[in-house]
Parts: sequence; structure tokens; C-alpha cells
Amino acid sequence: MDDKIVLTGIKPTGMPHIGNYLGALKPLIEMSQNHKTFMFIADLHALNAVHNAKEIKQHTYEIAALMVAMGLNLENTVFFRQSDINEIYQLTEFLMNVTPKGLMNRAHSYKAMVEKNTEAGVDIDSGVNMGLYTYPVLMAADILLYNSDIVPVGKDQKQHVEFARDIAGYFNNIYGETFKLPEPVIGEDCGIIPGLDGRKMSKSYDNTIPLLCPSAELKKKIMRIITDSKTPEEPKNPDESTIFQIYKLFANNDEVAALRKRFLNGGMGYGEAKTILFEKINSVLEKPRMEYERLMANPIEIDAILEKGAECARIVASRMVAKVKKKMLGL
Ligand code: TRP
Repeated sequence: MDDKIVLTGIKPTGMPHIGNYLGALKPLIEMSQNHKTFMFIADLHALNAVHNAKEIKQHTYEIAALMVAMGLNLENTVFFRQSDINEIYQLTEFLMNVTPKGLMNRAHSYKAMVEKNTEAGVDIDSGVNMGLYTYPVLMAADILLYNSDIVPVGKDQKQHVEFARDIAGYFNNIYGETFKLPEPVIGEDCGIIPGLDGRKMSKSYDNTIPLLCPSAELKKKIMRIITDSKTPEEPKNPDESTIFQIYKLFANNDEVAALRKRFLNGGMGYGEAKTILFEKINSVLEKPRMEYERLMANPIEIDAILEKGAECARIVASRMVAKVKKKMLGL
């Protein structure tokens, strides 16, 4: 463990599927085992797209309960809700004034909207609210508020961390050394995780397996995995089988070798292979699922966890805002 400050935010977007979990959330949980980490549910970042308080609140509980149930180390992690820290609104407003508008014009997600609008022949800013446009400033405030050194994110968020670095640089140039320059750390690509139809697992293909769901639902999903039409007797190629690819993500090496053999030998139908897969995932996720359900039935407990984190986060955040206020306003 080194003394670098690691920070990351997770947007509250409902139950993740196993592809999301393995690609994005599991690495964060592993990192929490041996790093001091600030981690928050980025509910303010959901606001530009979700105009429904109930939904944001519910999704916040879901993702918080899920992270705890999957083993987030709460000893090492300051785990909180972004909107609980009033200083975030303050720092965002302060940073607005050193952030060039042109930088925002270059943000990938804004540019994608402009392109879409241009193609559709409508106003380039159609459907763009200021929350979307200034999303990178809020994210820079998240990162700079807590003195972060390292920000582990997916590829799609790398530009945002670079913007935070740029904004810190602009500020430091004008007002003197104030913010550390954060570094994005992009997780290793864990490869494409196939969905039920063999294509990449993705919400937009409707081929996902939710990470935590009742076992009857899990079974139903797994039974829907598309296979070729080989008979039970025929030998099968495990490397071309979605069932086997997903099994590999949950089973240990010996189990994987054993199932590989059964594929190659023939004599196992896809129905049986699916049952083996279901039983494996179900047993690995049974305990976390129970803990998740327990927490979801006791939201007061989730609130208490997040409030404890917020108390800790506020101490760091209020110092930073005091520093910035002094530099910018002399107060
Ligand atoms: N924008 C990130 C996402 O969509 C979530 C996020 C918000 C974040 N604030 C952050 C990530 C600060 C890292 C650091 O996934």
C-alpha cells in the first residue's frame, strides 16, 4: 500500500450486469483491499439525464448495497453519496471561472450529441442541458476536492480525468499551487464478456445477466443462452461456447479444466452445460445476494454507511474549499 490518494465515482444506474461488474466494479473492490480510497455514488452526475428523484435515490441504494455486499473494504474506503457534501457545489462553481468554454466543446459526450444533432439536421445543442455541458467541471471538482492522486476509470472517462488535470493546472497558474494534478488509471481490459446471444454483453443488445437477481431469474436467463444445434453426444468446442466463456469468469482453474474436457469429449448436452453454469454462478453469488437483499430491506443501514463516509469526506472537502475561497475571494 502506498500513500497515494485514490478516488473514484460510480454513477447510480441500476443493477449492473456481470459484464459491468467484472469490467468496472470488481477492480474497484479489489483495490479497496489495500488502498485508502475515496469512493462515492455520483448521484449529481445522473441529474443531467434522469429527472426523477425516486429513480436516482433507488439506484443509489442499489449500487451502494451492491458494492458493500460484493466485499468493498469499508475500513479503507471513505464511501459516500456525492450530493451529501455541500462543498462539491461550491467548488464546481469556483472552477467554472477558470474553465475555458472551448474545453467543454471538446468533451466526447457533448461532441457526440452535437454530431447526432447535426446528422438529424436539428440545432446542434438540441437536448443538451447545462448539466451535460458542464459535466466535466463537476467531475473535476469531485477529483480536486479530495486531493486525489489517482483516478481509476474506464476508457470512456479518461478524457474527463485529463480535463480535471487541465483545470487544476489553469487554477494553479493563476492562483498559485493549490491542486494536485490527478492521473487517470485505466483498468486492464478484461476482454469482451459475451452476453446471452454471444455478442458483447450490453444493455443495448438486451442480452445481459444481472449480477444479483433472484435465482429463478438467473436460471431463466442462463437457459436462454443461444447455442448451436449439436446433439448431446457430439463433441463441442468450448472456446466457441458462450456457456463456457461465462463459466470461466466464475469457476476456478480445476473446474474450468474439467468442464473443458466434458465439452471436448461429447456426451454432455447444452442443457446440462447450462445447468452446470447456473449452479456455479448461483453458488458464487448466493452470499452476496443475501447480503444485498438484507441491505435493500434496511435502507437505514445503507444511509448510516454513507453518512459515516460523508462525515469523513466533509473534513477534507471543507479544508479545500476554504483554501480556494481564500485564494479567489480573499475571504
Ligand atoms: N463520470 C463517471 C462515469 O460516468 C462517474 C464519476 C463521477 C467519476 N465523478 C467521478 C469517476 C470522479 C471518477 C472520478 O462513470
